[in-house]
Amino acid sequence: MRIIDLRSDTVTLPTSEMLQYMIQADVGDDGRARGAKGEDNAAAAAEKMTAELFGKEDSLFVPSGTMGNSVCIMTHCKRGDKAVTCANMHMYKAEKTAFTEEGFGVKAVLVPQKKGFYDMEALKKAVKENDISLVCIENTYNFEGGTVLTREQIEEILAISHAEEIPVHMDGARIFNAAAALDMEVDRLCEGVDSVQFCVSKGLSAPIGSFIVGSTEFIRKARTVRKQMGGQLRQVGLLAAAGQYAIEHLSKRIANDNRRARQLAEGICDAKDISVDMDTVQTNIVKVDLHGRLRGRDWLKALEEEQGIRAHYITDDAVRFVTYRGIKDEDITEAVNRIRSFCDVH
Ligand SMILES: Cc1ncc(COP(=O)(O)O)c(C=O)c1O
Repeated sequence: MRIIDLRSDTVTLPTSEMLQYMIQADVGDDGRARGAKGEDNAAAAAEKMTAELFGKEDSLFVPSGTMGNSVCIMTHCKRGDKAVTCANMHMYKAEKTAFTEEGFGVKAVLVPQKKGFYDMEALKKAVKENDISLVCIENTYNFEGGTVLTREQIEEILAISHAEEIPVHMDGARIFNAAAALDMEVDRLCEGVDSVQFCVSKGLSAPIGSFIVGSTEFIRKARTVRKQMGGQLRQVGLLAAAGQYAIEHLSKRIANDNRRARQLAEGICDAKDISVDMDTVQTNIVKVDLHGRLRGRDWLKALEEEQGIRAHYITDDAVRFVTYRGIKDEDITEAVNRIRSFCDVH
């Protein structure tokens, strides 16, 4: 049986055009400073392009989303500082790098959220009562099913944070999915946000990497933090060029992934013993709640063995399906049929 892999958009492979673009990149030693940049012309060009696209002064390539978030947090904060986040925000729950004692020792002040949007009263209280150095947000919000923070919601968070002179960092791992859902350009969506990290290695299909964007001064400091973390790579322009190609050629097609996730959700939401909160199906992630006898990993194992569908564990009560460039309309139709058949017998 043909496997339909809906675990994650991180399984995307580079296109042959992207690989061609990579090998012609004008690379050099990015660790050797030449002004504010390194000697790698391709990396400098990709960083210039991403800064302009996001309406920020400067940009920096980093090897992963986790490093991008960590570099940003540690550029804004030092060990012992406090930062606002949520119990299930990716930076806090999955990465942990910045927020653990054995990591960078930033203290998390946890504020409740719904669909990735902070409880505004709780956020106001948190920033007034604590000596907060950073407010973190995530767009799209992975563990709530890829929900989107709207421009209005971001503006509310910015107003509360900036009133206390606290910077805001956005984990925009899937910011192009958010922008597509809102039909908005990323510069407008991220306006006023002090730092953003976004991944090119997810729905955008590049093999490796993320960019962070922010002010000239922020990126200058972040470059040093990246070096300390071991994230300063040499002929990095090969990777940065893949990211540039991905943004320029593959970011607009991401709306298709959002549409296909919606079709998948509509097709399975009333299947036996599962449910989908359709309000959370806003981008390319479908979070499914399990109510039957099989839970979490057992449900996933049986689904793959019996129906050749791969999905991803969230908790014992929830799994997720993710769409990406390799998933076509016919895969969605097929996946819906197989998931429904599976639910009928479990
Ligand atoms: C919301 C979010 N932020 C950050 C990351 C980390 O990215 P990476 O796997 O490149 O470290 C992920 C990865 O899945 C993510 O979903």
